[in-house]
Amino acid sequence: MRIAATADLHFTAQRYSALRDQLNKVRDEADALVLAGDLTNYGQPDEMEPLLNALVRLRIPIIAVLGNHDYESGREADLMRMMTAEGIKVLDGSAYERDGVGFAGTKGFVGGFGRGVLTAFGEPEIKAFVRASIDEALKLERAMSQLRTSKRVVVLHYSPVAATVNGEAAEIYPFLGTSRLAEVVDRHGADLVLHGHAHHGKPDGKTTAGIPVHNVAITLLQSQQPSAVYRVFDV
Ligand SMILES: [Fe+2]
Ligand SMILES: [Fe+2]
Repeated sequence: MRIAATADLHFTAQRYSALRDQLNKVRDEADALVLAGDLTNYGQPDEMEPLLNALVRLRIPIIAVLGNHDYESGREADLMRMMTAEGIKVLDGSAYERDGVGFAGTKGFVGGFGRGVLTAFGEPEIKAFVRASIDEALKLERAMSQLRTSKRVVVLHYSPVAATVNGEAAEIYPFLGTSRLAEVVDRHGADLVLHGHAHHGKPDGKTTAGIPVHNVAITLLQSQQPSAVYRVFDV
């Protein structure tokens, strides 16, 4: 299966015609389209509506997770409903199988990497923050354990590894993802992990177990190839 993947469209109505034209070829180049979060800029239904207009006309299966920007207005449930009504598979601690390929997805959360992972110690506020990070890892665990396919693709918004956020300011690494997500991926096994959020990170990385991780933030894709709006992977 050829999978076109992109993230961080931060869609606003002004971008409608450009994006519609740029996405036109996706159906010839891929069998499915993955959107790894931050579809909208402020999480408003009136940003999602024109984006959905552009997406449904592509007539390609679409698998998506939301990103932090899609939560900004507290309308995430409305956005998910709108997307689902148009046939988009929105993964939120859930899985989807198509043509022998399994997709497991969740937004993920912040929390840091490796030895820098924040632990639940001290104030209740820290514990609540860490709890949110662990909850997303548990959602990914649940999604991955539902998959029965031999080919597996993980879709996240936040990064599971530091390698693909490298390029951003080191001070903000802990806010770009957490290796708690990578631990789950390595435990269950996958062929490919796709994420966004780190707009100025690196395109390619690996988990400790060697599973390929790719940052498909559109700004990053376009920094390498200005006309690119997605990157195609074969699984
Ligand atoms: Fe973003
Ligand atoms: Fe983001």
